[in-house]
Amino acid sequence: MSITDAKIATLAIDGGEPIRSAEQRWPVWPEPAPGAAQNLEAVLHSGRWAISSPLGSTELFERTFAQSFANYVGVRHCIPVDHGSSALVVALESLGLDFGDRVLVPGLTWVASASAALRAGLVPVLVDVDPVTGCLGADNLDLTVNAKAAVVVHWSCCMADVPALVAAGAPHGIAMIEDCAQAHGAEWGGRGAGTMGQLGCFSFQHGKVLSAGEGGAVVSNSDSRAHTLQELRADSRSYRKDRGRRGELEVIETATTMGSNFCISEFNSAVLCAQLGILQQQHERRNGNHRLLTSLLAEVDGVSVLQPAPEQSRMSIYELPLIFDPLPRGMNVVQLGEALTAELGTAFYPTDAPLHTSRLLRPWNKRTLRPLTDDFMAVNQGRRFPNSDFFADHSVVTHHSTLLAEERDMYDIAEAVAKVIAG
Ligand SMILES: Cc1ncc(COP(=O)(O)O)c(C=O)c1O
Repeated sequence: MSITDAKIATLAIDGGEPIRSAEQRWPVWPEPAPGAAQNLEAVLHSGRWAISSPLGSTELFERTFAQSFANYVGVRHCIPVDHGSSALVVALESLGLDFGDRVLVPGLTWVASASAALRAGLVPVLVDVDPVTGCLGADNLDLTVNAKAAVVVHWSCCMADVPALVAAGAPHGIAMIEDCAQAHGAEWGGRGAGTMGQLGCFSFQHGKVLSAGEGGAVVSNSDSRAHTLQELRADSRSYRKDRGRRGELEVIETATTMGSNFCISEFNSAVLCAQLGILQQQHERRNGNHRLLTSLLAEVDGVSVLQPAPEQSRMSIYELPLIFDPLPRGMNVVQLGEALTAELGTAFYPTDAPLHTSRLLRPWNKRTLRPLTDDFMAVNQGRRFPNSDFFADHSVVTHHSTLLAEERDMYDIAEAVAKVIAG
Protein backbone atom coordinates (compact mmCIF):
# COMPACT_ATOMS: atom_id res chain seq x y z
CA MET A 1 0.00 0.00 0.00
CA SER A 2 1.40 3.43 -0.90
CA ILE A 3 1.19 6.60 1.15
CA THR A 4 -1.65 7.76 -1.15
CA ASP A 5 -3.64 4.51 -0.80
CA ALA A 6 -3.43 4.95 2.98
CA LYS A 7 -6.28 7.44 2.71
CA ILE A 8 -8.91 4.74 2.25
CA ALA A 9 -7.83 2.28 4.95
CA THR A 10 -9.42 1.64 8.35
CA LEU A 11 -6.98 2.18 11.23
CA ALA A 12 -5.63 -0.95 12.91
CA ILE A 13 -6.73 0.48 16.24
CA ASP A 14 -10.31 0.49 14.85
CA GLY A 15 -10.05 -3.13 13.67
CA GLY A 16 -8.46 -2.51 10.25
CA GLU A 17 -5.46 -4.34 8.87
CA PRO A 18 -2.18 -3.02 10.32
CA ILE A 19 0.59 -1.76 8.05
CA ARG A 20 2.92 -4.45 9.47
CA SER A 21 2.17 -8.00 10.50
CA ALA A 22 3.17 -9.39 13.91
CA GLU A 23 5.95 -11.43 12.21
CA GLN A 24 7.74 -8.28 11.03
CA ARG A 25 10.15 -7.63 13.88
CA TRP A 26 11.93 -4.45 14.97
CA PRO A 27 15.49 -4.37 16.32
CA VAL A 28 15.82 -5.59 19.89
CA TRP A 29 17.40 -3.13 22.34
CA PRO A 30 20.00 -3.20 23.83
CA GLU A 31 22.17 -4.89 21.24
CA PRO A 32 25.13 -6.62 23.00
CA ALA A 33 28.39 -5.63 21.30
CA PRO A 34 31.07 -8.13 20.27
CA GLY A 35 33.34 -8.64 23.28
CA ALA A 36 30.77 -7.67 25.93
CA ALA A 37 30.33 -11.22 27.22
CA GLN A 38 34.10 -11.79 27.25
CA ASN A 39 34.66 -8.57 29.23
CA LEU A 40 32.02 -9.60 31.77
CA GLU A 41 33.64 -12.98 32.16
CA ALA A 42 37.00 -11.29 32.74
CA VAL A 43 35.59 -9.14 35.56
CA LEU A 44 33.91 -12.15 37.12
CA HIS A 45 37.25 -13.86 37.63
CA SER A 46 39.40 -10.78 38.20
CA GLY A 47 38.94 -10.44 41.94
CA ARG A 48 38.11 -6.77 41.28
CA TRP A 49 34.42 -5.96 40.94
CA ALA A 50 34.64 -2.32 42.06
CA ILE A 51 37.02 0.62 41.64
CA SER A 52 37.57 0.36 45.41
CA SER A 53 39.10 -3.10 44.90
CA PRO A 54 42.70 -4.03 45.74
CA LEU A 55 45.35 -3.19 43.15
CA GLY A 56 45.71 -5.71 40.36
CA SER A 57 48.01 -6.46 37.46
CA THR A 58 45.67 -5.12 34.77
CA GLU A 59 43.93 -1.78 34.29
CA LEU A 60 40.39 -1.53 35.65
CA PHE A 61 37.68 -1.50 32.98
CA GLU A 62 36.54 1.76 34.57
CA ARG A 63 39.89 3.40 33.75
CA THR A 64 39.90 2.04 30.20
CA PHE A 65 36.36 3.20 29.59
CA ALA A 66 37.00 6.65 31.10
CA GLN A 67 39.91 7.20 28.72
CA SER A 68 38.06 5.87 25.66
CA PHE A 69 34.94 7.88 26.36
CA ALA A 70 36.94 11.08 27.00
CA ASN A 71 38.61 10.56 23.60
CA TYR A 72 35.25 9.87 21.97
CA VAL A 73 33.69 13.04 23.37
CA GLY A 74 36.83 15.12 22.76
CA VAL A 75 37.65 16.11 26.33
CA ARG A 76 40.53 15.62 28.79
CA HIS A 77 38.75 13.87 31.65
CA CYS A 78 35.86 11.46 32.12
CA ILE A 79 34.70 10.43 35.59
CA PRO A 80 32.30 7.48 35.37
CA VAL A 81 29.52 7.20 37.97
CA ASP A 82 26.65 4.82 38.73
CA HIS A 83 23.80 6.80 37.06
CA GLY A 84 23.27 9.82 34.85
CA SER A 85 21.41 11.40 37.77
CA SER A 86 24.52 11.01 39.95
CA ALA A 87 26.57 12.65 37.20
CA LEU A 88 24.33 15.71 37.45
CA VAL A 89 24.51 15.71 41.28
CA VAL A 90 28.31 15.62 41.44
CA ALA A 91 28.66 18.06 38.54
CA LEU A 92 26.45 20.57 40.37
CA GLU A 93 28.24 19.89 43.66
CA SER A 94 31.60 20.51 42.00
CA LEU A 95 30.58 24.12 41.26
CA GLY A 96 30.94 24.93 44.96
CA LEU A 97 27.65 26.83 45.20
CA ASP A 98 25.81 27.66 48.42
CA PHE A 99 22.86 25.72 49.81
CA GLY A 100 19.64 27.06 48.24
CA ASP A 101 21.26 28.69 45.20
CA ARG A 102 19.08 28.53 42.11
CA VAL A 103 19.60 26.51 38.94
CA LEU A 104 17.71 27.01 35.67
CA VAL A 105 16.25 23.79 34.24
CA PRO A 106 14.33 23.53 30.95
CA GLY A 107 10.73 22.30 31.00
CA LEU A 108 11.34 19.53 28.46
CA THR A 109 13.51 16.84 30.02
CA TRP A 110 13.50 13.85 32.32
CA VAL A 111 12.82 14.69 35.98
CA ALA A 112 16.45 13.93 36.96
CA SER A 113 17.63 17.21 35.40
CA ALA A 114 15.68 19.01 38.14
CA SER A 115 15.76 16.50 41.01
CA ALA A 116 19.57 16.38 40.80
CA ALA A 117 19.61 20.08 41.70
CA LEU A 118 17.52 19.39 44.81
CA ARG A 119 19.82 16.49 45.75
CA ALA A 120 22.77 18.89 45.48
CA GLY A 121 21.03 21.33 47.86
CA LEU A 122 19.94 23.71 45.09
CA VAL A 123 16.59 25.01 43.83
CA PRO A 124 15.53 24.23 40.25
CA VAL A 125 13.86 27.13 38.48
CA LEU A 126 11.88 25.86 35.50
CA VAL A 127 12.17 27.74 32.22
CA ASP A 128 10.72 27.30 28.73
CA VAL A 129 12.57 25.97 25.66
CA ASP A 130 13.39 27.14 22.16
CA PRO A 131 10.39 26.66 19.81
CA VAL A 132 12.51 25.03 17.09
CA THR A 133 14.84 22.63 18.94
CA GLY A 134 12.95 21.97 22.18
CA CYS A 135 16.17 22.75 24.09
CA LEU A 136 17.07 25.64 26.37
CA GLY A 137 17.88 28.71 24.25
CA ALA A 138 19.67 31.93 25.18
CA ASP A 139 16.28 33.71 25.08
CA ASN A 140 15.00 31.34 27.76
CA LEU A 141 17.67 32.23 30.31
CA ASP A 142 15.80 33.95 33.13
CA LEU A 143 18.24 36.58 34.35
CA THR A 144 15.87 37.90 37.03
CA VAL A 145 16.11 35.04 39.55
CA ASN A 146 19.84 35.23 40.36
CA ALA A 147 20.50 31.70 39.08
CA LYS A 148 24.07 30.44 39.53
CA ALA A 149 23.88 27.58 37.02
CA ALA A 150 21.76 26.08 34.25
CA VAL A 151 21.27 22.44 33.33
CA VAL A 152 21.39 22.59 29.55
CA VAL A 153 19.57 19.54 28.22
CA HIS A 154 20.24 18.30 24.69
CA TRP A 155 16.77 16.94 24.01
CA SER A 156 15.79 13.86 21.96
CA CYS A 157 17.77 14.45 18.73
CA CYS A 158 18.54 18.16 19.03
CA MET A 159 21.32 20.08 20.71
CA ALA A 160 21.07 23.34 22.61
CA ASP A 161 23.19 26.23 21.38
CA VAL A 162 25.67 26.02 24.26
CA PRO A 163 28.10 28.68 22.92
CA ALA A 164 25.21 31.18 22.82
CA LEU A 165 24.10 30.14 26.31
CA VAL A 166 27.62 30.52 27.68
CA ALA A 167 27.91 33.98 26.08
CA ALA A 168 24.56 35.06 27.54
CA GLY A 169 25.02 33.45 30.97
CA ALA A 170 28.68 34.11 31.79
CA PRO A 171 28.30 37.88 32.44
CA HIS A 172 25.65 36.97 35.02
CA GLY A 173 27.72 34.23 36.66
CA ILE A 174 25.57 31.39 35.34
CA ALA A 175 27.59 28.18 34.89
CA MET A 176 26.41 25.86 32.12
CA ILE A 177 26.17 22.13 32.91
CA GLU A 178 25.39 20.14 29.76
CA ASP A 179 22.96 17.29 30.32
CA CYS A 180 23.98 14.95 27.49
CA ALA A 181 21.98 11.92 28.65
CA GLN A 182 20.27 12.02 25.24
CA ALA A 183 23.23 13.22 23.16
CA HIS A 184 26.26 10.89 23.27
CA GLY A 185 28.48 11.81 20.34
CA ALA A 186 26.36 14.73 19.09
CA GLU A 187 28.35 17.69 17.77
CA TRP A 188 27.74 21.41 17.41
CA GLY A 189 30.01 23.02 14.82
CA GLY A 190 32.38 20.06 15.28
CA ARG A 191 32.44 20.42 19.09
CA GLY A 192 31.21 17.46 21.12
CA ALA A 193 28.17 17.59 23.37
CA GLY A 194 29.51 17.95 26.89
CA THR A 195 32.63 19.92 25.96
CA MET A 196 31.23 23.44 25.60
CA GLY A 197 29.83 24.18 29.06
CA GLN A 198 31.68 23.87 32.38
CA LEU A 199 30.87 20.15 32.60
CA GLY A 200 29.05 17.49 30.59
CA CYS A 201 26.90 14.74 32.12
CA PHE A 202 25.96 11.45 30.47
CA SER A 203 23.65 8.54 31.32
CA PHE A 204 24.24 4.91 30.33
CA GLN A 205 20.83 3.71 31.51
CA HIS A 206 19.15 0.88 29.58
CA GLY A 207 17.43 2.98 26.92
CA LYS A 208 20.33 5.31 26.14
CA VAL A 209 22.31 4.99 22.90
CA LEU A 210 25.32 3.88 24.94
CA SER A 211 24.13 1.60 27.71
CA ALA A 212 25.28 -0.66 30.51
CA GLY A 213 21.82 -1.01 32.04
CA GLU A 214 22.73 1.70 34.54
CA GLY A 215 25.67 4.09 34.56
CA GLY A 216 26.76 7.64 33.96
CA ALA A 217 29.74 9.93 33.54
CA VAL A 218 30.86 13.52 33.95
CA VAL A 219 33.34 14.99 31.48
CA SER A 220 35.52 18.04 31.98
CA ASN A 221 38.61 19.71 30.59
CA SER A 222 39.69 20.96 34.03
CA ASP A 223 42.35 18.94 35.90
CA SER A 224 41.38 20.33 39.31
CA ARG A 225 37.66 19.81 38.75
CA ALA A 226 38.31 16.24 37.60
CA HIS A 227 40.04 15.55 40.92
CA THR A 228 37.13 17.08 42.86
CA LEU A 229 34.69 14.96 40.85
CA GLN A 230 36.63 11.81 41.67
CA GLU A 231 36.31 12.60 45.37
CA LEU A 232 32.65 13.58 45.10
CA ARG A 233 31.76 10.21 43.58
CA ALA A 234 33.96 7.94 45.77
CA ASP A 235 33.49 8.98 49.42
CA SER A 236 36.28 11.59 49.21
CA ARG A 237 38.72 9.17 47.57
CA SER A 238 40.56 9.47 44.28
CA TYR A 239 42.87 7.26 42.23
CA ARG A 240 46.33 6.82 43.72
CA LYS A 241 49.21 8.20 41.66
CA ASP A 242 51.87 5.87 43.09
CA ARG A 243 52.02 2.17 42.28
CA GLY A 244 50.99 1.15 45.79
CA ARG A 245 51.71 -2.14 47.53
CA ARG A 246 50.04 -5.48 47.11
CA GLY A 247 46.66 -5.53 48.86
CA GLU A 248 46.28 -1.73 48.89
CA LEU A 249 43.31 -0.14 47.15
CA GLU A 250 43.17 1.58 43.77
CA VAL A 251 41.69 4.67 45.49
CA ILE A 252 43.16 6.57 48.43
CA GLU A 253 41.72 9.03 50.94
CA THR A 254 42.74 12.34 49.41
CA ALA A 255 39.70 13.95 51.10
CA THR A 256 39.85 17.56 49.98
CA THR A 257 36.10 17.55 49.21
CA MET A 258 33.54 15.47 51.07
CA GLY A 259 31.97 12.93 48.72
CA SER A 260 29.43 10.12 48.62
CA ASN A 261 29.49 6.75 46.89
CA PHE A 262 28.37 7.12 43.28
CA CYS A 263 30.89 4.61 41.88
CA ILE A 264 30.11 2.53 38.83
CA SER A 265 30.63 -1.23 39.09
CA GLU A 266 33.34 -2.97 37.08
CA PHE A 267 30.66 -5.09 35.40
CA ASN A 268 29.00 -2.01 33.97
CA SER A 269 32.33 -0.54 32.87
CA ALA A 270 33.20 -3.83 31.15
CA VAL A 271 29.97 -3.68 29.15
CA LEU A 272 30.52 0.00 28.29
CA CYS A 273 34.02 -0.72 26.93
CA ALA A 274 32.47 -3.09 24.42
CA GLN A 275 29.35 -1.04 23.60
CA LEU A 276 31.39 2.06 22.77
CA GLY A 277 32.90 0.08 19.89
CA ILE A 278 29.57 -0.11 18.02
CA LEU A 279 28.19 3.33 18.86
CA GLN A 280 29.45 5.07 15.75
CA GLN A 281 27.98 2.56 13.30
CA GLN A 282 24.68 2.72 15.17
CA HIS A 283 24.67 6.54 14.88
CA GLU A 284 25.24 6.26 11.14
CA ARG A 285 22.37 3.87 10.63
CA ARG A 286 19.95 5.94 12.74
CA ASN A 287 20.98 9.21 11.13
CA GLY A 288 20.60 7.75 7.65
CA ASN A 289 17.12 6.54 8.49
CA HIS A 290 16.28 9.93 10.02
CA ARG A 291 17.18 11.57 6.68
CA LEU A 292 15.10 9.05 4.75
CA LEU A 293 12.08 9.40 7.03
CA THR A 294 12.35 13.18 6.86
CA SER A 295 12.17 13.07 3.06
CA LEU A 296 9.30 10.56 3.05
CA LEU A 297 7.24 12.55 5.53
CA ALA A 298 7.88 15.79 3.62
CA GLU A 299 5.18 14.38 1.27
CA VAL A 300 2.63 14.14 4.08
CA ASP A 301 0.74 17.25 5.21
CA GLY A 302 0.38 17.87 8.93
CA VAL A 303 3.50 16.14 10.24
CA SER A 304 7.22 16.86 10.42
CA VAL A 305 10.27 15.11 11.84
CA LEU A 306 12.05 17.22 14.47
CA GLN A 307 15.21 18.68 12.92
CA PRO A 308 18.30 19.97 14.71
CA ALA A 309 19.55 23.55 14.27
CA PRO A 310 21.81 24.05 11.20
CA GLU A 311 24.85 24.54 13.48
CA GLN A 312 24.48 21.00 14.81
CA SER A 313 27.02 19.09 12.76
CA ARG A 314 26.27 15.56 14.03
CA MET A 315 23.09 14.08 15.40
CA SER A 316 22.71 11.57 18.17
CA ILE A 317 19.14 10.35 18.23
CA TYR A 318 17.75 9.18 21.57
CA GLU A 319 14.08 9.52 20.75
CA LEU A 320 12.64 10.68 17.46
CA PRO A 321 9.81 13.24 17.78
CA LEU A 322 7.22 13.39 15.00
CA ILE A 323 5.41 16.73 15.30
CA PHE A 324 1.72 16.63 14.36
CA ASP A 325 0.35 20.08 13.62
CA PRO A 326 -2.59 20.25 13.50
CA LEU A 327 -3.52 17.17 15.49
CA PRO A 328 -5.42 14.95 13.05
CA ARG A 329 -9.12 14.17 13.55
CA GLY A 330 -9.25 15.49 17.10
CA MET A 331 -6.83 12.84 18.38
CA ASN A 332 -4.45 13.75 21.18
CA VAL A 333 -0.85 12.50 21.30
CA VAL A 334 -1.72 9.51 23.50
CA GLN A 335 -4.28 8.34 20.94
CA LEU A 336 -1.91 9.08 18.05
CA GLY A 337 0.79 7.03 19.73
CA GLU A 338 -1.60 4.13 20.26
CA ALA A 339 -2.76 4.31 16.63
CA LEU A 340 0.81 4.26 15.28
CA THR A 341 1.81 1.47 17.65
CA ALA A 342 -1.13 -0.62 16.41
CA GLU A 343 -0.11 -0.05 12.77
CA LEU A 344 3.59 -0.71 13.21
CA GLY A 345 4.06 -3.08 16.14
CA THR A 346 6.71 -0.94 17.82
CA ALA A 347 6.09 1.67 20.50
CA PHE A 348 5.14 5.26 19.65
CA TYR A 349 4.24 7.40 22.64
CA PRO A 350 4.04 11.00 23.93
CA THR A 351 7.19 12.66 25.17
CA ASP A 352 7.78 12.96 28.94
CA ALA A 353 5.42 15.42 30.58
CA PRO A 354 7.01 18.88 30.85
CA LEU A 355 8.39 19.38 34.33
CA HIS A 356 5.82 22.00 35.35
CA THR A 357 3.11 19.34 34.92
CA SER A 358 5.15 16.26 35.86
CA ARG A 359 3.89 14.03 38.64
CA LEU A 360 7.50 13.04 39.23
CA LEU A 361 8.60 16.49 40.39
CA ARG A 362 6.86 17.03 43.71
CA PRO A 363 9.57 17.91 46.20
CA TRP A 364 6.96 18.89 48.81
CA ASN A 365 6.33 15.15 49.26
CA LYS A 366 9.76 14.74 50.85
CA ARG A 367 10.07 16.45 54.19
CA THR A 368 13.87 16.64 54.21
CA LEU A 369 13.71 18.87 51.12
CA ARG A 370 11.50 21.40 52.87
CA PRO A 371 13.95 24.30 53.11
CA LEU A 372 14.45 24.06 49.34
CA THR A 373 10.81 23.32 48.55
CA ASP A 374 9.55 26.65 49.91
CA ASP A 375 11.70 28.55 47.45
CA PHE A 376 11.00 26.01 44.69
CA MET A 377 7.27 26.67 45.00
CA ALA A 378 7.64 30.42 45.30
CA VAL A 379 9.99 30.89 42.36
CA ASN A 380 8.14 28.52 40.01
CA GLN A 381 4.66 29.86 40.66
CA GLY A 382 2.95 31.50 37.68
CA ARG A 383 5.67 30.61 35.16
CA ARG A 384 4.55 29.89 31.60
CA PHE A 385 5.89 27.25 29.21
CA PRO A 386 4.14 27.71 25.83
CA ASN A 387 6.88 26.04 23.77
CA SER A 388 7.31 23.07 26.14
CA ASP A 389 3.52 22.67 26.13
CA PHE A 390 3.43 22.77 22.33
CA PHE A 391 6.03 20.00 22.05
CA ALA A 392 4.25 17.90 24.66
CA ASP A 393 0.85 18.35 23.01
CA HIS A 394 2.02 17.75 19.43
CA SER A 395 4.89 15.22 19.55
CA VAL A 396 4.76 11.47 19.32
CA VAL A 397 8.15 9.85 19.80
CA THR A 398 9.71 6.50 19.12
CA HIS A 399 12.83 5.03 20.71
CA HIS A 400 16.07 5.28 18.74
CA SER A 401 16.17 1.51 18.25
CA THR A 402 13.29 1.89 15.75
CA LEU A 403 15.76 3.79 13.56
CA LEU A 404 18.25 0.91 13.74
CA ALA A 405 15.88 -0.99 11.43
CA GLU A 406 16.28 -1.32 7.65
CA GLU A 407 15.55 1.47 5.18
CA ARG A 408 12.43 -0.34 3.97
CA ASP A 409 11.03 -0.13 7.50
CA MET A 410 11.08 3.68 7.27
CA TYR A 411 8.62 3.40 4.37
CA ASP A 412 6.27 1.52 6.71
CA ILE A 413 6.54 4.30 9.30
CA ALA A 414 5.79 6.97 6.70
CA GLU A 415 2.86 4.95 5.41
CA ALA A 416 1.45 4.45 8.91
CA VAL A 417 1.75 8.16 9.70
CA ALA A 418 -0.04 9.05 6.46
CA LYS A 419 -2.75 6.48 7.18
CA VAL A 420 -3.32 7.80 10.71
CA ILE A 421 -3.49 11.40 9.50
CA ALA A 422 -5.88 10.47 6.69
CA GLY A 423 -8.06 8.45 8.99
C1 LIG B 1 17.89 14.29 29.98
C2 LIG B 1 18.18 13.28 31.06
N1 LIG B 1 18.89 13.64 32.13
C3 LIG B 1 19.20 12.79 33.11
C4 LIG B 1 18.79 11.47 33.06
C5 LIG B 1 19.11 10.57 34.21
O1 LIG B 1 19.91 9.49 33.89
P1 LIG B 1 19.84 8.13 34.76
O2 LIG B 1 18.53 7.49 34.47
O3 LIG B 1 21.00 7.34 34.28
O4 LIG B 1 19.98 8.50 36.20
C6 LIG B 1 18.08 11.02 31.95
C7 LIG B 1 17.63 9.61 31.87
O5 LIG B 1 16.59 9.30 31.39
C8 LIG B 1 17.74 11.95 30.93
O6 LIG B 1 17.05 11.58 29.85
